[in-house]
Amino acid sequence: MSGAFIVIEGLEGAGKSTVIGAVSEYIKNKGHDVLCTREPGGTPMAEAIRDCVKQDWSTEEVTQETELLLMYAARSQLVHNVIKPAINQGQYVVGDRHNLSSLAYQGGGRQVPDLTMSQLKTMTLGSFSPNFTLYLDIEPILGLSRARGRGELDRIEMAGIAFFERARERYLAEIKTMQQQDAYSAAIIDASQDVDSVRESVLNSLDAWYSEFHHASRS
Ligand SMILES: Nc1ncnc2c1ncn2[C@@H]1O[C@H](COP(=O)(O)OP(=O)(O)OP(=O)(O)O)[C@@H](O)[C@H]1O
Ligand SMILES: [Mg+2]
Repeated sequence: MSGAFIVIEGLEGAGKSTVIGAVSEYIKNKGHDVLCTREPGGTPMAEAIRDCVKQDWSTEEVTQETELLLMYAARSQLVHNVIKPAINQGQYVVGDRHNLSSLAYQGGGRQVPDLTMSQLKTMTLGSFSPNFTLYLDIEPILGLSRARGRGELDRIEMAGIAFFERARERYLAEIKTMQQQDAYSAAIIDASQDVDSVRESVLNSLDAWYSEFHHASRS
């Protein structure tokens, strides 16, 4: 029996890392093995790329092409070496970010052309895509103030607010397209709520998806 890939997406401070434990628990309680991943990262090489991407290179400008290619390099390592093998063994993989983050940040935020984005996706992922995406929607100001409360902001978090507004717009547009193609493929969660309410909304959406997915894979 094949597993599934569930992805949690959203801007900095939306609460992805805060809810991933509840998502993982839900799936475990359904009797599945769960593997949590984060992007960029999740393999030794991909974690090294993560450090490289987040680092402040002071006077050396990091071009948007470099950032984009490093993100896809890390994703390729993770999908090839970890995510696909786990799914093939029947595990449920819960990802803290995946390809939608690149579409939002590099595509929306940095305004990398759509064609470049789709070519990179096809090259590194082919037709591989998540079974379910939980998008935690938050206004950038609120998300960043939460992230700031967590400590120093990294290089990407220090991009201007307009960058994050564009990223959020892209997230919402992509989620809408996904839902039009398959109503069960994605859910939008109001992440401005308190932690308990966000968790409850996440679990309700997850439950609706799981029932449908389980039903479809049995029939
Ligand atoms: N619903 C919430 N209300 C208030 N604070 C929250 C909420 N969810 C998370 N937080 C707090 O906000 C901060 C950021 O949350 P978290 O690390 O889960 O965000 P994230 O989406 O994983 O961000 P990043 O993309 O930077 O990893 C943490 O200090 C967390 O405790
Ligand atoms: Mg996080």
